Amino acid sequence: MSIQKSQIEAALGTVMEPDLGKDLMTLGMVQDIAIDESGNVSFSVVLTTPACPMKESIKQSCIDAIKQAVPEVGAINANMTSKVTSSCSHGGHGGHSGHGGNEAHSGHGAPQKIDLPNVKNIIAVASGKGGVGKSTVSVNLAVSLAASGAKVGLIDADLYGPSIPTLFGLQNVKPEVKDNKIMPIEKFGVKLMSIGFLVDPETALIWRGPMASSAIRQLISDVDWQELDYLIFDLPPGTGDIQLTLVQALPLTGAVVVTTPQDVALADVSKAVTMFRKVDVSILGVVENMSWYELPDGTKDYIFGKAGGEKFAKINALTFLGSIPISSKVREGGDTGTPSIIANPDAPTSVAASKVAGEVARQVSIHNAACATG
Ligand SMILES: Nc1ncnc2c1ncn2[C@@H]1O[C@H](COP(=O)(O)OP(=O)(O)O)[C@@H](O)[C@H]1O
Ligand SMILES: [Mg+2]
Repeated sequence: MSIQKSQIEAALGTVMEPDLGKDLMTLGMVQDIAIDESGNVSFSVVLTTPACPMKESIKQSCIDAIKQAVPEVGAINANMTSKVTSSCSHGGHGGHSGHGGNEAHSGHGAPQKIDLPNVKNIIAVASGKGGVGKSTVSVNLAVSLAASGAKVGLIDADLYGPSIPTLFGLQNVKPEVKDNKIMPIEKFGVKLMSIGFLVDPETALIWRGPMASSAIRQLISDVDWQELDYLIFDLPPGTGDIQLTLVQALPLTGAVVVTTPQDVALADVSKAVTMFRKVDVSILGVVENMSWYELPDGTKDYIFGKAGGEKFAKINALTFLGSIPISSKVREGGDTGTPSIIANPDAPTSVAASKVAGEVARQVSIHNAACATG
């Protein structure tokens, strides 16, 4: 007897999406089941992110489940695709579209929300202080998600020290303006915008408070982003007024907090965590950068202390997204304008950075699934 579609559906109904805690059929992730006369089966699995770290294991589970339930099956072709889910935190998705839902937290009323309806997820990358590698982590996150197949934008709002132009080797580039919209600059598959493309640092330096905030608002809302799965937002370092205004103005999916293992950085990072909690922005997790230096004999030198970021995450009930070691390649990549993840994709730091990117994407998917049902 020939194989029935219902048999394949039943088999795939036993395969769990480990992060979302439900089976693939219930989640509606299986499409285009086809069975030919020789008993060969093909189907697509639509994951919630192309950067899904579980992709291969889910694929194998599908194959195993079908083989077990339908032993006479021929070849199995599982086509792993994805459609990135949207955050509930922006308009049109049932979340608050921002009439100052957080007024209670701000002395002068929450700033009006900037709505970017074509951007599915905005992820803020923050740190308590400068120099911990926040921009480097943002760049590697953006480039890595783009390499996985996602549509990615990256925005650098550090008025007093924009770094994206240097990190991408775009020091003298000026973006085009079309129909009153600023065109992002595209490099390494990422759409980029930086305050550094628009004004020279001396001009930005004299901006204070409201001037700075309104410049940054324009930087976000006047750009022609088109459709994006992820917009990575490299926040200015620190936890002052500018940062607070920004995290309130954007419909953020969540925040990634970067720290080094040192206690001082950790004391600062507590302030960042407190800031996000105060305005009800979910924290997707903590990344520890500059975790160790690998000596020529392969041993690790924990220059800034060991596992501080992980301990910090645990104490604060946050997800730990991974550790990135110290490497001169990372610094060189930054200085020469080719992110190390592109220049040296197999280096331990690059492998670590892609792993972090997968974890961030995973936390976004989990967050979106929870906010869609809850
Ligand atoms: N893992 C790393 N290994 C080596 N150098 C790093 C690493 N992460 C960041 N750096 C370097 O440290 C400096 C500060 O990083 P940056 O990303 O600009 O920090 P922030 O944005 O937090 O101020 C840069 O020169 C960068 O190249
Ligand atoms: Mg920076």
